[in-house]
Order: sequence, then C-alpha cells, then structure tokens
Amino acid sequence: MAFDLVITHGTVVTADATFRANVAVNNGKVAAILNPQDAPEAAQYLDAAGCYVLPGAVDAHVHLHMLTAAGIYSADDWRTGTKAAALGGVTSVVDFVQALPGQTSMEALHQRVDDARDAVIDYGFHMTIHPDESPIAGVNQRVSDFRISEIRLAADAGCPTFKMYQAYTGLQIQDADLFRALRAIAEVNGMACVHAENGDVIQVLRDSVDAPADLTNGLLHAQTRPTIQEAEAVTRTLACAELTGARVLIFHISCDLAGNVVAAAKARGLSNVFGETCPQYLVFTDEKLARPDGRLWMCAPPLRPQSDQDALWRKLKTGVLDVVSSDHCPFTRAQKDLGATDFRRVPNGMPGIETRMGVLHEFGVRTGKLSLNDWVRVCSTRPAELHGLQSKGRLAPGYDADIVIFDPAERKELSTSALHSALDYSVCEGMTCTGWTRDVLLRGNMIVRDGQHVGNTGDGRFLKRS
Ligand code: URP
Ligand code: ZN
Repeated sequence: MAFDLVITHGTVVTADATFRANVAVNNGKVAAILNPQDAPEAAQYLDAAGCYVLPGAVDAHVHLHMLTAAGIYSADDWRTGTKAAALGGVTSVVDFVQALPGQTSMEALHQRVDDARDAVIDYGFHMTIHPDESPIAGVNQRVSDFRISEIRLAADAGCPTFKMYQAYTGLQIQDADLFRALRAIAEVNGMACVHAENGDVIQVLRDSVDAPADLTNGLLHAQTRPTIQEAEAVTRTLACAELTGARVLIFHISCDLAGNVVAAAKARGLSNVFGETCPQYLVFTDEKLARPDGRLWMCAPPLRPQSDQDALWRKLKTGVLDVVSSDHCPFTRAQKDLGATDFRRVPNGMPGIETRMGVLHEFGVRTGKLSLNDWVRVCSTRPAELHGLQSKGRLAPGYDADIVIFDPAERKELSTSALHSALDYSVCEGMTCTGWTRDVLLRGNMIVRDGQHVGNTGDGRFLKRS
C-alpha cells in the first residue's frame, strides 16, 4: 500500500511513550505507526531526523477578536492569532461565544463561526453563560431560563463546554445560576469551564484603593485579587460540581491554595473535577507587576510569587492540574495604556498562543520538571480528551494527521519581531528557547514548513465536539 506521506527518522513522543518510528499518513488521517526499519512506499516523505514527532497541540482557552466590556477587541483576529498558533505547533483552538445584549447564544454562535472563517487551524467554541441584563447598581442580574435552555441546543450544535465567570461585573454569575447551569450541563454530559475568583470581594478591595499615587502601582492588581479569594471561588464551584455531578474544569489556576482545593476534591474521588493552568503562571512571577510597564503582564487571576509557581509545576507533574492552555488574550501597548494611571482600567490578558509549546519545553522539559510525555499530555492529549475533540490530540491510527515536527536543537528568541501575533511587544522579550516547532501538518496538509507558514487563510474547520 502506498501512503500519501511518511514521516521518517523521527522520535515519536506521545502522552505515554517515546520511541523511534515512521508515521504514515493517508487521507488526512494517521494511517500507521511503522517500525523505523520499514521503508513503505509513499507519494511524499518528510525527514524528521533529530526531531520529535508530536500530535498537534490543542489550545482550548484562547480569546481571538474578543470584544471587552470597555468596547475594545483583543488584538489578534482569527488570521493573525491562528497563524501565530500554527507557528507554535498548535493545530486546534477552542475560543468563546458570548451573546451580545438581546442576542440568543445560538445566534452568537453562528456569528462567531462566521467570524472565524479566516482561521488557518481548526477551531471550536465554548459557550458563555452570563446574566441576561446589565447589572443594576453594581448588582449582577440573573441568568434566564431561556439561556439555560440553550445549553442543550449548544451541546447538540457541537459546543458542549460552557464558560462561567465568578468575577467581572456584568459577566459574574450568581451561585444559584452557577448551580442551575451545572445541573443542565450534567444532563447533556457537557463540561463547565469556570473563571474562579470571588468577584464581590475583589470589587470591594478595588473600590477601597483610592490614593491617586497608588493607582499606577501594578502590584495592587495582585493585592486586590488575593489567593484566598481564588481558592474560595474554586471551593464554591466544586461544591456545586459535587452536588450536580457536572464535569467542571477550573480555568487558569494561578496559586497553590486554589490548586489544593482541586487536589483535595480529586483525592476524595471526585472524577468530574479538573484543573487548568497557563504558561504565564509557570514562568513569570508578580515581580513583573512592579515594573513601570507591569500592566503588560496583567491578567486575571494575577501573577503570583515564586512559591506559587513552584507549587503549580509540582501539581502539573502529579496530575492535579490536567492541562496547560495559553489563555491568549492579547492587548496592544496602546490598549494596555488605557490603564496607565489606574490599574483598574487595564484590559486583563496576556499573549501566549505561539509560545506555549516552546516555553513549556524550555522551562518544563529541559529543566526536568516535566517529561516529554507529560508535555504532550498537558498540551495535546488531555485537552483534546477533556474538551471532546475526539479526532485530535493523539498520534495513533484513525486520528487526524495533525502532526508537529519539533526540533529540540533549534534556538528561538522570543522577541516581538520573531513572533507572529499582532502585538507590538512580547511579554517574553529576552527569553530564548532551545527547541521549537519546525513543521506542522493539519489533517495531513503541510501548513508550516521550516518555521514559515505555508498554509492558506481559511484552512481551519469548525470542530463539532462531543
Ligand atoms: O486576564 C485574563 N485571563 N483575560 C482573559 C479573560 C479571562 O478571564 O479568561
Ligand atoms: Zn481566558
């Protein structure tokens, strides 16, 4: 049998094993994992000597072309954002649908799918469940029965994962509605993805900071979002998860205290509880916030001290934390400067869609904190499993031939000019990674060759997830 393509001489790395093999591709799927001595007939060969052959990375937490409450959009659109992702070894992303006032969630989903037509890699959507009305006097409103009823419609349309915020005025969901939504999510065997911070406590702390000189102090961003309030919100969510049986992934866990709540739930045998962290919490500390331009590193939850970072690496290694997503939410310098005189007006979010794989290889694998297999597990295989991407995340016969050739010897500077986001700065400026993505196949088609994007706008497909 002649294959469309055979990748030769590489070292295959999966979530479970590392071995020499040739990888055969047919009709966009992985057709066979072959003995390296075999010399099968193929229309094309790709020599991966000296490189790792990995399943394409899955980044299930990104914010492309996201409209904020302040009326600005995150800086990467679907073309720039997914091209940057591809160049960093990512072949699938999951972004968000958030209905505008007066819009149904399903209308908003159709609009987002249309918005994503320029994507160069595959994409899916989480649905956001949020109050239907604007807050009155700062009090967040309720989620309507109609919005809850759309959970089933969304799951049927291939979007069985649901984002909820326990913070952010306007988006923040009351406990009763968190509970109602989790009950409905359990019924469709979906999963909730929760931004766990106590928005009420944060609001009081932020309102209490009033000395004008202080408002430029970026450390206040972290001090008004202390770790205990994050851990409290995780506790509340996991209590609702336990009562309803709904699968719940706690998004962007930033600290040991919050991770401990997930660890305790898992230790008690709750198999419906999962944890995510992000590269920023693994490589930066709150020291960045003390810089005059500390707002470039402002995200929520905030960056934490070194002790939290160390604990997160341990929790990733032991499986308390299941996945690493980028939470790519880029804002330009000018957008970040909206909060130059008041940290409370800084749009929250950091880039990371292109650097996640390389940074985790550099600071996780090369330091011995993670094995190569852990790296693939947390960046590809577990995200695909948790988010219902059934044909993604594994290098095995029958799976999509989303394949990354990663050169562990390639040195890559993470400067603004070397990266491909639309941003006019890099939060990783000055960092060098040894090891970077060389080539990427999306469903068997080469979209990155020798570090250059060679695919086309619109190569990506909407992923109906189950
Ligand atoms: O600061 C962050 N994380 N911004 C993105 C929105 C969110 O909360 O995930
Ligand atoms: Zn996010």
